[in-house]
Amino acid sequence: DGGTGGDGGAAGYPDQNITIVVPFSAGGPTDTVTRMISEPMAKALGGKIVVQNVEGAGGTVGAGEVARAEPDGYTVLMHHIGMSTAPALYKDLGYQPLEDFETVGLVTEVPMTIVARKDFEPATFQDLVTYVKANAAKVTLANAGIGAASHLCGLLFQSAAGVKLQEVPYEGTGPALTDLVGGQVDFMCDQTTNTTGQISAGAVKAYAVTTPERVKSLPDLPTTAEAGMPQLQVSVWHGLYVPDGTPPEVVQKLSDALKVALADQAVIDAMAKLGTAPVPAADATPQAHRAHLEEQLGTWAKVISDAGVKAS
Ligand code: MLT
Repeated sequence: DGGTGGDGGAAGYPDQNITIVVPFSAGGPTDTVTRMISEPMAKALGGKIVVQNVEGAGGTVGAGEVARAEPDGYTVLMHHIGMSTAPALYKDLGYQPLEDFETVGLVTEVPMTIVARKDFEPATFQDLVTYVKANAAKVTLANAGIGAASHLCGLLFQSAAGVKLQEVPYEGTGPALTDLVGGQVDFMCDQTTNTTGQISAGAVKAYAVTTPERVKSLPDLPTTAEAGMPQLQVSVWHGLYVPDGTPPEVVQKLSDALKVALADQAVIDAMAKLGTAPVPAADATPQAHRAHLEEQLGTWAKVISDAGVKAS
């Protein structure tokens, strides 16, 4: 009966723990957003949600596991823009975003910041661009693996600056930020949900945000457009997924619970402190999420191929 209370529908759902898979390390931005909404979602569902980190290969390992999970509503995936870039970056991805998943709803859209270790030489974003052009061979750029948001932003930066830097992949930008604070890696592009604390604490150097407008919680940080690289614009949308074949009533229950979580004042406040906000309720629906995913798959396939990057 697919474990949905015996009637194949959603009547008894949920009658066991729900797992939300985060395809990156604990403590990173994807994990942070997931743990912000998991409690209020569980309450709205009248069940329990467990967050499980399944790292590797820029989020594609965790996504693949959920694609192959029982379509019973008890395994959910939290993923981000990487769902729409991976098909252009991986030759044998092992799943098709539009065929192997049902979209549940969009969650939030998060700005990215260009941050460096505190004693990295360049003082401003312009200095950074000049510096990497002159020192490309020795500059290290951290990311969370091919297909991660940090990888995509780094790719856009390198393409705009006309350089190829030494990329250092991590299982998530949680551990990457730890190394950045420790001075083990030079710089990276990462989401405000991860970097705001360290920027405000002065533990890393921040150069710019990758959104058209400045971020209220980081008012002194110029936009990339102000800093002379208007083409570097990317913000990281997140959505929830279940395996293809999950009963529509179960998908609807999850989407309804997501909307309750996104209207929760504590979630709104926590997101605001980290430079982001819940999507409007109309976007936290399976239909809006699917339409966005379809558009983003086309958009990023073109950007990635225009940047001369081939699937590997
Ligand atoms: C990413 O770069 O895709 C994410 O920031 C990785 C993470 O959530 O750790």
